[in-house]
Amino acid sequence: MNIVSTTREIKKMIKDYKKQGKTIGFVPTMGFLHEGHLTLVSKSGSDCDITIMSIFVNPLQFGPGEDYDRYPRDIERDIELAEKAGVDVLFTPDVNELYPAEPSVSVKAVERTDVLCGASRPGHFDGVVTVLSILFNIIDPDKSYFGQKDAQQVAVVKGLAGSLHFPTEIISVETIREQDGLAKSSRNVYLSDQERTEAPVIYQALKTASEIYMTDGSNAAIEHFKHELSTVSGDIDYIEILTYPELQVPSESDTRLIIAAAVRFERARLIDNIIFTTEEETACSDQ
Ligand code: PAF
Repeated sequence: MNIVSTTREIKKMIKDYKKQGKTIGFVPTMGFLHEGHLTLVSKSGSDCDITIMSIFVNPLQFGPGEDYDRYPRDIERDIELAEKAGVDVLFTPDVNELYPAEPSVSVKAVERTDVLCGASRPGHFDGVVTVLSILFNIIDPDKSYFGQKDAQQVAVVKGLAGSLHFPTEIISVETIREQDGLAKSSRNVYLSDQERTEAPVIYQALKTASEIYMTDGSNAAIEHFKHELSTVSGDIDYIEILTYPELQVPSESDTRLIIAAAVRFERARLIDNIIFTTEEETACSDQ
């Protein structure tokens, strides 16, 4: 595995790969890798000739008072895990490399950002689309891989690639979970032992609430979620049911929906979601 930290070096490598006709899969991350990231690498490895992973904790997507300074970092462990997972090039720029000067233009996500994390973390998705615009321009990937745990991020990034004509296919990969259902996240290390035992309730409650939605509608589903979460020490930041990927309030004719929640524990804010369809399955017959 090659490890490079300058845009000059990585651009040269990519030029050579492209000359050889190789396809490039890109896995952007903020490091502190877990099985979710490694699944993206394995998907990229089966689709593309070369897999490039970036590790960059992007200051622009953290608001004042958020956890930028104490975001978990362990580059030695990440290098080992990335190499074992089959990453070909690990790109580890520092802040001055990606943002050498005050930018003279900015990228703003104007759709799909007034709900869920966009509402509770103002400016967060502007930071995400800004850094991804820079990374897409540097790496010019054929395919880019994102985890479905960050479903709103996937929706916003699809909007970015479409609106700015980035020639990369945005691929979302299912959420990887612990055995008890808790979605894998770099921030899970912040949970106390007590919170770690409580946190799987989030996914359980989302699952049941999505079933309740089918029979009793939105209010009943959300009330159920709130009731289930009343037993844990974390506070609900949001719980919403919206269309996916548009992230609009659903009408009766909308069939593809997301139920998504964020829960704030003492040192970790966890998010999770389920995307589900309300369409009844039509029975198939060979006749
Ligand atoms: O999902 C993340 O880790 C980040 O938001 C991303 C996509 C790497 C951009 O900084």
